[in-house]
Amino acid sequence: MPLAGRHVVLGVSGGIACYKSCTLARRLAEDGATVDVVLTASAAAFVRPLTFEALLGRPVLASLWEKDRALAHITLAKEPDLVIIAPATAHLVARAAMGMADDLLTALLLARTGPVLCAPAMNDDMYAHPATQQNLKVLAQRGWQFVGPEIGPLAEGPSDRPGRMSEPEAIHAAAARLLAPPGPLHGKTVVVTAGPTREHLDPVRVLTNPSSGRMGFALAQAAVARGADVILITGPTDLTPPSGVTVHRVETTVEMQRAVEAAVPQAQLLLMAAAPADYRPTVPLSTKQPRANGRITVELEATPDILGSLNRPKQCVVVGFALETGDGLERARGKLREKGLDYIILNDALEPGAGFEVTTNRVTIVPKRGEPVRLPLLPKRDVAEKILDAVEHTLS
Ligand code: CTP
Repeated sequence: MPLAGRHVVLGVSGGIACYKSCTLARRLAEDGATVDVVLTASAAAFVRPLTFEALLGRPVLASLWEKDRALAHITLAKEPDLVIIAPATAHLVARAAMGMADDLLTALLLARTGPVLCAPAMNDDMYAHPATQQNLKVLAQRGWQFVGPEIGPLAEGPSDRPGRMSEPEAIHAAAARLLAPPGPLHGKTVVVTAGPTREHLDPVRVLTNPSSGRMGFALAQAAVARGADVILITGPTDLTPPSGVTVHRVETTVEMQRAVEAAVPQAQLLLMAAAPADYRPTVPLSTKQPRANGRITVELEATPDILGSLNRPKQCVVVGFALETGDGLERARGKLREKGLDYIILNDALEPGAGFEVTTNRVTIVPKRGEPVRLPLLPKRDVAEKILDAVEHTLS
């Protein structure tokens, strides 16, 4: 638990999202962190200091002029392991970028040299405004880390653009990541593909497969927990991506291929857990085919083999997956050779508890050199850990 025994300052500025900061404060304290809350005057108009004091059992600071705390802006800048600002309003972001120090929170931010995690929250137009974007860029260049904002409903109504503050759980996870000791994949970029892709027969009908994306999402989660920068390229799935992961959503095999090719040049590891659709119509139909037409004939062609045609960077370890029926070891070995892989993870589509749409898997890790390792039936998240354990040491 990276937060246990750590000192965190939670700076709260005055946006409606500050009701969620109460949950965040409590969550940090439950993990064993000592949490000092600093409120701006506007935040104190939204949530009374007493709320935080009752949640944390500690006094809350809201002014530069607190009795006997004349140097609070310096001690609260220097002592904590992490300063979190949640919510960070457009005004707070602007004041911090300008280096203003007209209240306790901005003064401590000016004196702060250690890590700052900022969770912006504001109206979507205010967030998109060039002034705000410029201010955020300035703060990022100074080393501030950001979580969110997300797309979702705002106080003023629905929105399809970023502005909404990340949920307390996501901010808590980002804080834990910042305070965690560097994991074994720290500084490595890991690209993970997940889920199916789908190819349109006509505007309303698709060719796809039942891949749930669970194996890929579990790998992304395990890699981010080990400190990697993770790029998750996923076909259509209902799963929620793990926080801290950069997500690219794609639909077709060609879109997945483009996303993989764009991501791998900077990657040290590619985990190709997706099940891309292997066929697409030679000529996609541009209008819906009425059922009354009865039988239709669609000519299919193979989609590109993403791994097979990958211009593989030298530094990148490539792991493929093979879902076979029956004893697929020889077929898996063939794919390992033909696709130029370092490992292939074999699983049997017909074995109970393995393959698509289930939360468990039974896999065999087949390396380029050496003997295959057969794992027992395990939850997919444990399979993900075992796969990373097996391949981690080969990363440059
Ligand atoms: N794969 C790929 N591009 C495709 C299809 C699959 O890169 N168009 C990847 C998968 O993500 C997996 C590996 O190749 O990591 C093996 O996938 P699999 O479907 O078993 O192999 P195919 O080459 O499609 O062979 P087949 O379906 O004929 O068994």
